[in-house]
Amino acid sequence: MRLRTRHMLGIAGIEPDEIELILDTAESFAEIGEREIKKVPTLRGKTVVNFFVEPSTRTRSSFELAEKRLSADSVNFSASSSSFVKGETLLDTARNLEAMAPDFIVIRHSEAGAPHFLARHSRCSIINAGDGAHEHPTQALLDAYTIRRRKPLAGLRVAIVGDILHSRVARSNVLLLSKMGSDVVVCGPPTLLPPGVEELGCRVCHGVDEALEGADIVMALRLQLERMTRGYLPSLREYAKLYGINAARLDRAAPDAIVMHPGPMNRGVEITGDVADGDRSVILEQVTNGVAVRMAVLYLLAGEVESEAAA
Ligand code: NCD
Repeated sequence: MRLRTRHMLGIAGIEPDEIELILDTAESFAEIGEREIKKVPTLRGKTVVNFFVEPSTRTRSSFELAEKRLSADSVNFSASSSSFVKGETLLDTARNLEAMAPDFIVIRHSEAGAPHFLARHSRCSIINAGDGAHEHPTQALLDAYTIRRRKPLAGLRVAIVGDILHSRVARSNVLLLSKMGSDVVVCGPPTLLPPGVEELGCRVCHGVDEALEGADIVMALRLQLERMTRGYLPSLREYAKLYGINAARLDRAAPDAIVMHPGPMNRGVEITGDVADGDRSVILEQVTNGVAVRMAVLYLLAGEVESEAAA
C-alpha cells in the first residue's frame, strides 16, 4: 500500500488507510530511534527547504531532526531571513524556492491555503506545517500516533477544549479522529467556537465538565492571543476558571484518560501546572513522537514521487 498523494496538505485530503500506513511507518522509524541507530540513508541526496513564515520552535526542529535522521540535505528560510518581509509575493517566493530544485518544501504560513497554492505552482512535494487557522496535518498525525500507542483510535471519546476558532490543530484533529471512528467533542467559550464546526465531524459542548465526562482523551489548546483581533474573552483569569483543565475537572474523565497539548502551553490558563506535569500527561511524548511521524511522512511522500517519475 502507498499514499495516494505526493503532498501532505491536510487531513481533509487523506483516507483512513493512508493514516494507518503513516502511523505504522512511524512505528518502525521510532524503533530505529530506540535501537540507537539514529540515522538512516533513506533520503540521501534529497533536498528539503523548511520555509517558515510564522514563529515555530517545536514543529520546525521536529522536521529538521526528521530530515537529518533520514540523511536529507536541508536549508531553512524563516520569516526574518526571507525576502517575504521585503514585499515579495508568495508566487515569486515559490518560483525562487523552486529554482533551487528541492524535493520537498515544508511550509508554515499565517495564510490558510498557502501550502495548497505552493503545490499548484511547484514540482516538488509540499508539506503543510500549519497554515493559518486551517490545518496542521503532521500535528494531528503525531497526536494520533501518541494515542494509538495506548488505545485503538476507533470508539474513543475525545474532548478538545480551548480556542477552537484559531486552532489548526483542533481542525486537523477533529478531521482525523472522526475519520478513524472516534466521538469528538469540542468545547470553549462561544466566541472561540467557529460557526458550523460540527460539519468537520464533531459535537459542540459549551460546558467543560460535560465535555470531560467519561473522556478517554483530553486535549487542551492554547488561547492564541496573537490571533485575537477583538475582545473574545472577559479575562484570562475568567477563562482559566471556566475552561481551564485542572485536577478536579480531570476526575470526570475516564480513569485511564490521557492529557494532551500541542504546545506551547500557557500554564495556569488552559491547563494547570500539576495536570501538565502529572502522570496522565503525554505532552512531552507528543514532542518525541513528532520526529518519527514526520520521518514517516517524508519517507512515504518520497516513495510517491519516485513511483510517479518511474511511471
Ligand atoms: C500549534 C501551532 O502552531 O499550530 N503548535 C504546534 O505546532 N505545536 C499550536 C499553537 O500555536 O498553539
